[in-house]
Amino acid sequence: MKVLFLNGPNLNLLGTRQPEVYGRHTLADIERLVRARAAELHAEVDFRQSNHEGELVSWIQDARGRFDAIVLNAAAYTHTSVALRDALSAVAIPTIEIHLSNIHAREEFRHRSLIAAVCRGQISGFGIQSYLLGLQAAVTSKEPS
Ligand code: DQA
Repeated sequence: MKVLFLNGPNLNLLGTRQPEVYGRHTLADIERLVRARAAELHAEVDFRQSNHEGELVSWIQDARGRFDAIVLNAAAYTHTSVALRDALSAVAIPTIEIHLSNIHAREEFRHRSLIAAVCRGQISGFGIQSYLLGLQAAVTSKEPS
């Protein structure tokens, strides 16, 4: 089981970025936790971050035939990117949408996710646990729900 974790813009700033919203863990801390849990679940993980929409689109395209599932924190692109949505539709790899914060409890522009409809489901609001729950969901995403 190979799982691709993709992180969108500004998530490289975790640790210092609005800690009251996103917590004090860095993305490297989160990656360590994800890798430890993945080892327990016998899953292989690739963990990436980009501030560039096109790079995220290319990584999704290249995932076809290489990964069994994607766990995606698209960050701000969640709310704006038709390109990411189209890429996810095109590759048809089971994708779990995740967010550290509860996007539905925040500003109205964050309530809408353009990618939600092409994802298996959404995990939002559990801080770093959203990543571990996303991994759990990805590992079971091939089973009938
Ligand atoms: C986020 C929520 C988004 O609205 C925001 O733009 C982010 C992070 C989260 O993980 O809570 O950058 O995806």
